[in-house]
Amino acid sequence: MKARITVLAGDGIGPEVTAAGVRVLESVAGAFGHEFEFVDALIGGAAIDASGSPLPPRTVDACRSCDAVLLGAVGGPKWSDPSARVRPEQGLLELRRTLGLFANLRPVRTLESVLDVSPLKAEVISGVDIMVVRELTGGIYFGRKSRTALEAEDVCSYSAHEIERVTRTAGRLAMQRKRRIVSVDKANVLETSRLWRSVVERVISEEFPDVSLEHMLVDAAAMHLLLRPTSFDVLLTENMFGDILTDEASMLAGSLGLLPSASLGDGRVGLYEPIHGSAPDIAGRGIANPCGTILSSAMLLRHSLGLEREAATVEAAVESSLSSGLRTADIARKGQASIGTEAVADAIIERILTVH
Ligand code: IPM
Ligand code: MG
Repeated sequence: MKARITVLAGDGIGPEVTAAGVRVLESVAGAFGHEFEFVDALIGGAAIDASGSPLPPRTVDACRSCDAVLLGAVGGPKWSDPSARVRPEQGLLELRRTLGLFANLRPVRTLESVLDVSPLKAEVISGVDIMVVRELTGGIYFGRKSRTALEAEDVCSYSAHEIERVTRTAGRLAMQRKRRIVSVDKANVLETSRLWRSVVERVISEEFPDVSLEHMLVDAAAMHLLLRPTSFDVLLTENMFGDILTDEASMLAGSLGLLPSASLGDGRVGLYEPIHGSAPDIAGRGIANPCGTILSSAMLLRHSLGLEREAATVEAAVESSLSSGLRTADIARKGQASIGTEAVADAIIERILTVH
């Protein structure tokens, strides 16, 4: 098949990890006989430096006219002056909103070969397989904001429609998995959470009668994620709770650098990015873990291009490379040498080409 993929490298380690992701996608194209065209565009701090805007119109056009978007990361100390008028993160948030990407899928799985990396006990995290579905274009991130010298506000609002559509995404995913959803909220305090709870309840019972649904308060969910992570299947949550819980959940897998994500809407274009940030402290050194981005490329193959076999091949190649002991610094064993971003990508590509 032919596909056009827009690559938004962004800031910090973004260009290093997206370069690895693109190389992996190119190897998939070669091995399976597809034609992928890659178009680079600017976002975040890099775009502010070049044009003054974190999301230039040309970038939006490039994202609207392609099949999928692969993104690295945005942000960094250069642009984090609290009084700055434009921030790199605004580019990412605006892109999610503009493309209508309301459902953010963040799979959290522990790979047996890197169980030792997590600070948590192997017996607690062995077998973790959670699909977090985070609402991505509503809530406190997108409500009215205001600020005076002595006061500031960020309004959290949700409509029933926004809750319904992301609940359907979670319901459909649950049907392909263990058919269990835990919906996270703070219904003992927040009005938006009480609406969330009742809409989720209605959509699941009417449209997904085979899915079992449990509601959990976010503070308890934060605790249960560490106490009994294997008991979760699909975790459905609003925007900010999902942001926080997925950083926490990444420790079940061992490193933020391992986790991918897909942001989907009703439209055709999906946005794929690792859940980690721009890691300015290690940027430019060629040591960032590319696995989160490479696994995001696998999600791109699956969700935007419908190439399930290719996606599974990439995932298997990542697992095989990790289990042969090839590790970047973030997941290296104490006292053991680590390898760089490109070497990890090389090992994964070699496996894609040989298993195929
Ligand atoms: C994430 C990030 C973003 C978010 C930032 C960079 C705006 O933390 O994708 O998890 O909060 O959504
Ligand atoms: Mg985050």
